[in-house]
Amino acid sequence: MPLPEDGGGIGAVVADLAEVVIPNGSRVGEPGWSSFITTGPTTCAMAAWLAAAAAAGSQRYAVHAFNTLERVALDWVAQLCGIPAACQGVFSSGGSTANLVALGAARQWAFERRGLDVSADGLPPGTRARVYASGQAHNTIQRATAVLGLGQAGTRRIACDARQRIDVAALRAAITADERDGVVPVAVVGTAGTTDTGAIDPLGDLAQVAREHGAWFHVDGAYGLIAAASPALRPAFAAVAGADSVIVDPHKWLATGAGCAATYVRDAGIPYWDMGVELSAPSRGVLAWAVLRELGRAGVAARVERHIGLARHLAQRARQHPRLELLLEPELSIVCFRYAASDAVNAEILLRLRRATRSIPSSTVTAGHLAIRPCFINPRTRLADVDALVDHVTAIGDEPTGVQPG
Ligand SMILES: Cc1ncc(COP(=O)(O)O)c(C=O)c1O
Repeated sequence: MPLPEDGGGIGAVVADLAEVVIPNGSRVGEPGWSSFITTGPTTCAMAAWLAAAAAAGSQRYAVHAFNTLERVALDWVAQLCGIPAACQGVFSSGGSTANLVALGAARQWAFERRGLDVSADGLPPGTRARVYASGQAHNTIQRATAVLGLGQAGTRRIACDARQRIDVAALRAAITADERDGVVPVAVVGTAGTTDTGAIDPLGDLAQVAREHGAWFHVDGAYGLIAAASPALRPAFAAVAGADSVIVDPHKWLATGAGCAATYVRDAGIPYWDMGVELSAPSRGVLAWAVLRELGRAGVAARVERHIGLARHLAQRARQHPRLELLLEPELSIVCFRYAASDAVNAEILLRLRRATRSIPSSTVTAGHLAIRPCFINPRTRLADVDALVDHVTAIGDEPTGVQPG
């Protein structure tokens, strides 16, 4: 499109949005969409976005309703997730920034204990320091260590067990060996719901290992930690109460629409202007506040339990179907399964799902196979959508594809 010399006016903009842009926008909000860990906003969240666009401004310092909701929402999300009141929170654009902010705090703490103020003076030349996370941890952990001057190699990846949870013995051995080499153990990262499979690391054990080695304990709960709203699921996240930092993304399971994550750090003394990396920023508290005002804790718990129920239903269908294979028992709302054929056949099934059906899952590799990997967090997804996905996979898999079965 050429840059218009003369403006078309608001009428032209609204017409383009309604007739061209929105109809060709992302399908992320549709009930059949189960890719990645993302979904469109609910109606309530869209109302909050509109309200913020109209009246929130971009400054976090003034005293007005939206900035008050920033604090209210941080407090509500903390209560929902079992994050202790001793922590201070800040919103940012997503889990990537939220992890960066948390690990920035970890780096500052680790060196302050050694008499160095790295935020003032930078890292001393030749410093070797590491963050420990499982091979399944999100890649934003190693991006954070790169940004923080520790290098991508500053994230040491630890092997996982068969359930894709961090191997605690391997973690202990790695930190001990690094300490012998003079490496500073900055932080141990536990993932409360991994991106690929939804595995929850043994957080209590990780807290213990971090304590033993004088390291910071960070929990990446970007996706899974909202599940702590459910009394039935909360015990798996109990160790969050002892974490030094925690992140959670309201834009995932709370469906606020993209751009809303929270970092909490156990240090109530940090001045507000030192929290986070942004100055001008959109109002995010109002989004999380609106969803929690609409649903309450019980409503969030019901959503999470319903989605996990959908994952278990799919797992059961895969277990029972003669030509489907469940690759991993679902822990949260992600399922890894496949049509019992080669990876090439499953890749073809995924392609044809995207092209020809409303079922849009992602893929990953698990248990040595290409997995079809839906994640159910969309509030609009119903049992019929899950059944449609299974039916589409079997129907496409049963057709001759021209790809070698095996
Ligand atoms: C566990 C985990 N951490 C961090 C992230 C990054 O979050 P965002 O996409 O909001 O930046 C994701 C994204 O899926 C995630 O699953």
